[in-house]
Amino acid sequence: MGLHLIVLGPPGAGKGTQAERFARERGLPKISTGDMLREAVKAQTEIGLRAKAIMDRGDLVSDEVIIDIVKERLDRADVRKGFILDGFPRTVAQAEALDRLMEGRDPLVVIDIVVPETELVRRLTSRVVCNDCGRNAEGVDPNDIGIVACRFCGGQLKQRSDDNETVILERLMVYHRDTQPLVEYYRPRSTFRAVDGSQPPHRVAAALNAAIESARQAGGAGGSGVVR
Ligand code: AP5
Repeated sequence: MGLHLIVLGPPGAGKGTQAERFARERGLPKISTGDMLREAVKAQTEIGLRAKAIMDRGDLVSDEVIIDIVKERLDRADVRKGFILDGFPRTVAQAEALDRLMEGRDPLVVIDIVVPETELVRRLTSRVVCNDCGRNAEGVDPNDIGIVACRFCGGQLKQRSDDNETVILERLMVYHRDTQPLVEYYRPRSTFRAVDGSQPPHRVAAALNAAIESARQAGGAGGSGVVR
């Protein structure tokens, strides 16, 4: 049975952190629409040039563009054994499009990472990332930028352009308006689970692993892609 995992949660919940670890452990592709858009911005593609202003103000890129990007990605051969979606879907329209793409595949497992808002703002205002490989520089303080290099690739560190307090508050508002309704969209499914993301990362990882296993068992080996 292929694992088709969606990691839901507000900005700063730890979706990327957990998705990356899980993908590495299970040898599955992590598909992050945020990372894909940031790569497009860096490469100055047409989509990247249009997306930059939208991302910098904390808004969402259009459903049409994002659905096309994900559709193309899910057509590739490496998703045959499964995938981990980080940052997609983010609207009900995206979730409905994903359900259509999943027809004939194993069910979606949906994990919602729950973290209080004050902690989200603290994490995002203090997040440091690599300008080259895009990974989080865990344990590095913004005051260390320019002194410490990325431990994965040696690249320069920076803060993300959307990680300032004004844009963070906008992203949280957009999350509540457009993305939180997905929790109710998926909750009736037997493969939906919520996880407490306010614990230290290794504990979140353990809770997430347990939630995924329990959701997969509840989902069974059906092939509809939509378990309600
Ligand atoms: P995206 O990159 O997806 O940003 P996001 O959803 O705002 O999520 P973040 O990456 O900020 O947080 P995260 O939950 O991954 O947390 P992380 O693990 O890094 O999207 C960016 C933009 O792209 C969007 O605003 C939008 O414009 C556009 N976009 C993307 N997808 C789209 C879509 N589908 N539709 C339309 N537009 C789209 O952790 C955060 C920090 O906390 C890190 O420093 C980490 O080290 C730390 N941390 C993690 N876990 C813990 C823990 N348990 N305890 C303490 N610290 C922790």
